[in-house]
Amino acid sequence: MSGWWDDAVVYEVYPRSFADADGDGVGDLRGIIERMPYLASLGVDGLWLTPFQRSPQVDQGYDISDYCDVDPLFGTLADFDELLASAHENGLRILVDIVPNHTSTDNPLYEAALAAGPGSPERDMFVFRPGRGADQSEPPNNWISVFGGPAWHRAAPDSATDTEWYLHLFSPGQPDWNWENPAVAAYFERVIRFWFDRGVDGIRVDVAHGLFKAEGLPDSPTVPTVIDGLRSNPLAMDQDAVHEVYRHWRRVADSYSPGRLLVGEVNLEPIRSARYTRPDELHQTFAFAFAKLDWDAATWVSVGGHLEEVRQSTGSAPSWALENHDIVRTATRFGGGALGRRRARAALVALLGLPGAVYVYQGQELGLPEVDVPVAERADPMWQHGGVSRDGARIPLPWVSSATGTHGFSPSGAGRPWLPVPEGWGRYSIQVQEETPGSDLRLFREATALRAALAADGAFGSGDGVRWGVDGDSRLIAERGRGVRIVVAMGEAAVPLPPGEVLLSSEPLVDGMLPASAAAWVR
Ligand code: GLC
Repeated sequence: MSGWWDDAVVYEVYPRSFADADGDGVGDLRGIIERMPYLASLGVDGLWLTPFQRSPQVDQGYDISDYCDVDPLFGTLADFDELLASAHENGLRILVDIVPNHTSTDNPLYEAALAAGPGSPERDMFVFRPGRGADQSEPPNNWISVFGGPAWHRAAPDSATDTEWYLHLFSPGQPDWNWENPAVAAYFERVIRFWFDRGVDGIRVDVAHGLFKAEGLPDSPTVPTVIDGLRSNPLAMDQDAVHEVYRHWRRVADSYSPGRLLVGEVNLEPIRSARYTRPDELHQTFAFAFAKLDWDAATWVSVGGHLEEVRQSTGSAPSWALENHDIVRTATRFGGGALGRRRARAALVALLGLPGAVYVYQGQELGLPEVDVPVAERADPMWQHGGVSRDGARIPLPWVSSATGTHGFSPSGAGRPWLPVPEGWGRYSIQVQEETPGSDLRLFREATALRAALAADGAFGSGDGVRWGVDGDSRLIAERGRGVRIVVAMGEAAVPLPPGEVLLSSEPLVDGMLPASAAAWVR
């Protein structure tokens, strides 16, 4: 079923780092409400808000203890309703994040399970198992957590009689739900209906390829290593039973008028990921094969070409992204410094020229680089358990350029922000970029406006295919249906443009040539 989302540009808001209205150093819902004019000015179709529900914030909100309430850190349900109404008045859709693979050890249902003890129906909501070895002091199997370290902890380490362990594929604060138990499915149906009834336009499903585990929880035959989004432990992901969950959620989403969007974080090979977007399942999954690309034309062409083959054979179109709150910022990934930033802006222009939905992460429109957060200030549990920090992509947004302080993230006089703002951060600020002709921000707005205009006049068609190619000097050409070509100069030299009208370019042309590290749309 087609909908507003097919070719939408969705902007990911990471509330902790967007805008802090109450001055506690952490962004909040009121901060988002106050900055709604900025969000509306971006020319995007919707906002995906990462978790703001009740949570002890062990994994910055991806450890949810009450799925149907707002954490006091971010505000109240009334604030959320106001945010939603304001977004809708500004023509912006709202997606909320739902985390069905795991919860928080602070969830009252988990607390009840601990209290009820082994063998109880309360424990059956989660994955509790006896340990191995004579005194059950070994974990039930050899799985390791995505964040590093064992995927099991003792339920009651101080108890002599309760020797069970609980499974947590992420941090120990995030126990996995037992999806074999129908009560879990019923619980989540109430959760998604709660948000749909409130008027949200869709949900982003966290770790959507998780939920079910291989029967009997066998040892993993591969040597446990730190894993990429579960990929290296197929026993803990992509089990067939999960599809029935999304078929059901889809029926629920479709029963609303207008229908609601389901977009999944499915970090799998494209051909496996496509199974999650069959016509009666999720509408979209992020194209992870593409999301982590470096600046290399040959790889873009092979990954893009493969995604196109999968689209043709399965009907499952990629939803594009190059950044999110878990991934190193493109300005840094593409080489860092001025060159990396120039490439990042070219990549964003290329992305916005592609058919299908595009997901953009806050700060990407400003060309923010990754920040090397001092070790003592890193907050990411993945750093604590696995030595990989995602903090550098989560630095508070710079709103204005000021000599000191948080550059408008927090009100003046507020305490320290939850992650340190680096010196000189103000030069990337929204205020500076609003005032600077040719800034990343201005280019972003130009690109979203043009994308919308081209869609309106039929030059950008819904469901267009893409033919990916590369020729001399690493000139990448993504030719979409109806004769529009996206050209990226990924080598060291300027490249000629194919004949036609240049609709947009990320840098001024020089003697009719597209300079190195730039992108253009040509019709
Ligand atoms: C997803 C989120 C990530 C989180 C993890 C566990 O990958 O994007 O931030 O840590 O799930 O919920």
